[in-house]
Amino acid sequence: MERIKQALEKARADRMQAGGPVMPLAARGAPSPVDEIHYSQTRAIAVPYETLREQRIVAADSARPFADSYKILRTQVLQRMTENGWKSLAITSAGPSEGKTLTAINLGIGLANEVTHTVLLVDADLRAPAVHRHFGLEPQPGLSEYLTENVPLTDLLINPAGIARFVVLPGGRPLANSAEMLNSPRMTRLVEELESRYRSRIILFDLPPVLESADTLSFSPQVDAALLVVEEGKTTVDDAQRAIELLRKTRLIGTVLNKARKLTVEATETANLSDRLFDTLEHSRRLNRAFKALRGMKNSLRGWWRRVRGRGS
Ligand SMILES: Nc1ncnc2c1ncn2[C@@H]1O[C@H](COP(=O)(O)OP(=O)(O)O)[C@@H](O)[C@H]1O
Ligand SMILES: [Mg+2]
Repeated sequence: MERIKQALEKARADRMQAGGPVMPLAARGAPSPVDEIHYSQTRAIAVPYETLREQRIVAADSARPFADSYKILRTQVLQRMTENGWKSLAITSAGPSEGKTLTAINLGIGLANEVTHTVLLVDADLRAPAVHRHFGLEPQPGLSEYLTENVPLTDLLINPAGIARFVVLPGGRPLANSAEMLNSPRMTRLVEELESRYRSRIILFDLPPVLESADTLSFSPQVDAALLVVEEGKTTVDDAQRAIELLRKTRLIGTVLNKARKLTVEATETANLSDRLFDTLEHSRRLNRAFKALRGMKNSLRGWWRRVRGRGS
């Protein structure tokens, strides 16, 4: 366990050194009040309450058991981002289906519920855009059309109706050359532009898994910080470590332990940002050690049995 904690600490120290001092929030971009987010320029799309509920999107019902976990996550993320003057945050994980998109959406809505902040969620998983699906929508033109066809942003942004201060830039048409597109000068300009346009806007990027493609690796250094989602019982210690190691050029703001099992009615519906990641990783390390010990025991029993049989014959 100590190994992972140390790796994380070291990665953090290296990043701080590499990144140098960070400008305070107030010093970046032209000051402009939150009210300047013009929803008239953004298409509002109705999303049925039932869809939000089925998809576990907190906006549907803030009384659900996991809503508090997202509020804790929101508060911790907001504190760190405000303290450091960070505006953009990437959400990623080691492997697929570990809960990046759901975390990004629920964190985004949580941040938007803070009346001082508006949130733009960018679906930057350009190989397999999925944010629209979580809102029960058909694929929408989005980031890939912006990058490849120069479609203006104002034609692409959507606001799930009823969720105030929360705007989505969908992924758009899936792209095979997504890593190159995410690293293109147009994408770099977009990130800069989004960060400087509104003082109190937070931009979240829903990214693909770190270990599956070059996309996250090449893009994440462009954002202020990243959040690593870890799925309890699925993400292995080795994969988490490899992901942390690969993300060494990005500031890791923290980890989310997703799908943590609790003895509640909705047992799998929790999401915690916590040191419990370390408990989980320690737990799986212990299990690995136990399996190794069992294998060792089995081998020595086999050897003993062979010797006994050898003597008998
Ligand atoms: N905490 C959670 N509890 C229950 N289901 C979850 C949780 N997090 C994610 N899921 C479900 O797991 C699936 C994969 O989640 P998703 O966010 O799309 O993963 P990723 O973006 O990492 O591929 C989705 O069906 C999602 O609804
Ligand atoms: Mg996803």
